[in-house]
Amino acid sequence: MSTGSERSAAEASEGTRAGALPPGGGLLRSVAETHALAARVAGSLAPGAVLGLVGELGAGKTEFTRGLAAALSVPADPPVCSPSYLLLNTYEGGRLPLAHFDAYFMDGPDDLERAGLDDLRRAGYVVVVEWAERVGSVLPRDTLWLVFEAAEDGRARRVSAGAPGEAAGS
Ligand SMILES: Nc1ncnc2c1ncn2[C@@H]1O[C@H](COP(=O)(O)OP(=O)(O)OP(=O)(O)O)[C@@H](O)[C@H]1O
Ligand SMILES: [Mg+2]
Repeated sequence: MSTGSERSAAEASEGTRAGALPPGGGLLRSVAETHALAARVAGSLAPGAVLGLVGELGAGKTEFTRGLAAALSVPADPPVCSPSYLLLNTYEGGRLPLAHFDAYFMDGPDDLERAGLDDLRRAGYVVVVEWAERVGSVLPRDTLWLVFEAAEDGRARRVSAGAPGEAAGS
């Protein structure tokens, strides 16, 4: 349950690097708030940027990516969907091209490299990786890590910045 004193994620990310969140993170009370955070992050992305998304099944990683695609003005057709079995979807035609990986079914970091991580970055794609902790060793140092968790209210998600195992925001 959210409290009046708790800041929304959009407020929490105000003024921080690349849309990163302060220690403690923020609350995304609805899909719309998840999309709003994605739009803030999208505004700071440069070609070749990498986002590592972490969180359990249904935590909101694909929903965040949908918001990112919309904010990059990626055409709405085809819609952004989970690349689970294909491992990779690409979307062109927006402000920046978007590559959307899902590492859930990858055997390890080598699979991400074989699927073209470096080539896509060199070609200027913004690269989003779901289940990124599974392939973290081949992601660049400046990867923007976002960790999503279910909150007490079923529609809310908690989001924090920082690679898994790191202190949030450090
Ligand atoms: N605040 C919220 N933010 C994001 N998604 C939400 C929120 N509230 C409800 N949802 C719903 O939760 C579901 C999140 O699913 P999504 O596919 O984004 O999860 P995921 O983390 O990508 O899971 P998976 O690991 O299976 O790919 C969607 O149906 C979405 O509409
Ligand atoms: Mg997903």
